[in-house]
Amino acid sequence: MKQNVQRFVVANWKMYFSHAQALNWIEKNSKMLQELQNESNVSIIVCPSADSLSYIAHKLKQTTIMLGSQNCSAHENGAYTGQIAAQSLSEIGCKWCIIGHSEVRTACDETDLVLQSKIERLFEHHLSPIFCVGEKQEEYQHKTAQKKLKEQLAPLQRVLERQHQSKTVAIAYEPLWSIGTGKVASNDYLQELFGIIEQSMEPYQKQHSFVLLYGGSVDEINAVRLWQIPQIAGFLVGKASTDFQLLKKIVLSTRG
Ligand code: PGA
Repeated sequence: MKQNVQRFVVANWKMYFSHAQALNWIEKNSKMLQELQNESNVSIIVCPSADSLSYIAHKLKQTTIMLGSQNCSAHENGAYTGQIAAQSLSEIGCKWCIIGHSEVRTACDETDLVLQSKIERLFEHHLSPIFCVGEKQEEYQHKTAQKKLKEQLAPLQRVLERQHQSKTVAIAYEPLWSIGTGKVASNDYLQELFGIIEQSMEPYQKQHSFVLLYGGSVDEINAVRLWQIPQIAGFLVGKASTDFQLLKKIVLSTRG
């Protein structure tokens, strides 16, 4: 089954790089990134912070590497200081946008309604969401992760129900207690939770396409065993994606 699946690796650079550092990284590595994508046949999506999006879009124009944003506004336009419109992301050349990342959910108190609007704005401008879900440490311990994921998927389901055109959506399952901690759950556990995601999105599969990603402390070593999870088509990688050599190993681990 995996043989025929289009594989993805999303590099979520968060705020690890300053503007100058991000430019430097892309200057140094864009050619190798393209070679890596050609050689591996994995779709690579680079998500720099907002300040560098335009420049990196310009640099990636000569490549087939895709660009993603780390967030977008729930609003179309108007008096929203500090926010970025989905329309601008589309004009810059983004194809993807991370939505509902736990770091943003926490920092901005994002409600389901806000997430719903963000997904709608993205669809209106022909971008695909990389919709993040995941349980907190306590929910993991109290075994309520399944319930949590079902609740978190509701805003996405509500938007998809109203879509007449076919959409592509990436769903990144990132247990919060795994993000940036080096702690990664067993494949059995993750497989069960991806099963819940699959089951929840099953009614929408006829019309829409889903790409399931795992995220949370993915590195060049655990990527090999994580790739064995049958449902996943790739990874959402934070810290390790800022090091080209580590990113390369992660991308290549999805060939096995
Ligand atoms: P991490 O981050 O790989 O540094 O744990 C993943 C993410 O938050 O997307």
